[in-house]
Amino acid sequence: MLDQYAVMGNPIAHSKSPIIHTVFAEETGQSLTYTAIQVEPDRFPEAVDAFFTSGGKGLNVTVPFKTEAYALATLRSVRATRAGAVNTLHLRKNGLFGDNTDGIGLLRDLTQNIGISLQGIRVLVLGAGGAARGILQPILEQKPNFVLIANRTPARAHQLASIFSDLGKIRGSGLDTLAGERFDLILNATRASLEGGTLSLPDGLLEKGGGGYDLMYGKNTPFLSWAKEQGAGWVSDGLGMLVEQAAEAFFIWRGVRPSTAPLLKRI
Ligand code: ATR
Repeated sequence: MLDQYAVMGNPIAHSKSPIIHTVFAEETGQSLTYTAIQVEPDRFPEAVDAFFTSGGKGLNVTVPFKTEAYALATLRSVRATRAGAVNTLHLRKNGLFGDNTDGIGLLRDLTQNIGISLQGIRVLVLGAGGAARGILQPILEQKPNFVLIANRTPARAHQLASIFSDLGKIRGSGLDTLAGERFDLILNATRASLEGGTLSLPDGLLEKGGGGYDLMYGKNTPFLSWAKEQGAGWVSDGLGMLVEQAAEAFFIWRGVRPSTAPLLKRI
């Protein structure tokens, strides 16, 4: 029987992970299967248990189960511990290993695919939920000049800033007090586009020629349209991040790093 991998989430029908991992397996000559499993909101621990009991080797975990996956892991990477969330589970001899590859996925997309450096720049992260928390450590490790987390509920932004304040210059704020600030890179880590809402952001927030990145995937998110109107030098949705986080998960499971460039050209 082939080694089994899967992604669990809800909803999961439109996930691109099965096609991404199937292409990685072909490219690296690895024999495995990768499926998408929809899990009911209160059934995640049972679903994970059933998957590994029946011989499963590794799981990706997406919304809304990343915090539960963190709780289920008996071994955790440093970056998963910082993020407080796990998107990759790997059954090992000594326990269930939980890692978080979202942040490194975003960083590789920004630095290798898009080709920007974060060193010395001003970064605005919109949102203070799980998605924001997963990306802050790798961003701060690149030594940006300053990171501001701005959130609809300011207290969550302040709390997140305090968790990461030992890693660099970081502060939290509300979304309604941004007028007058300027950033080289603005990352949208809110669920506003998913929920059909739009963010109301002041003009002049983005430096001329700066970048707008939406962690969601979908070419024309309201946030990316706003960034273009504001004179962004480049904009990107989160498809590259999705592919890069998948490559890192594949490496954790199989010990082989697939190259992402051919896939990124195709999808
Ligand atoms: P995720 O794991 O995807 O980050 P989450 O933890 O529920 O999900 O966080 C969702 C984020 O999107 C939060 O920052 C949320 O703001 P609040 O903390 O104020 O709830 C933000 N968000 C969701 N809908 C939004 C909207 N319509 N406008 C602005 N921010 C929104």
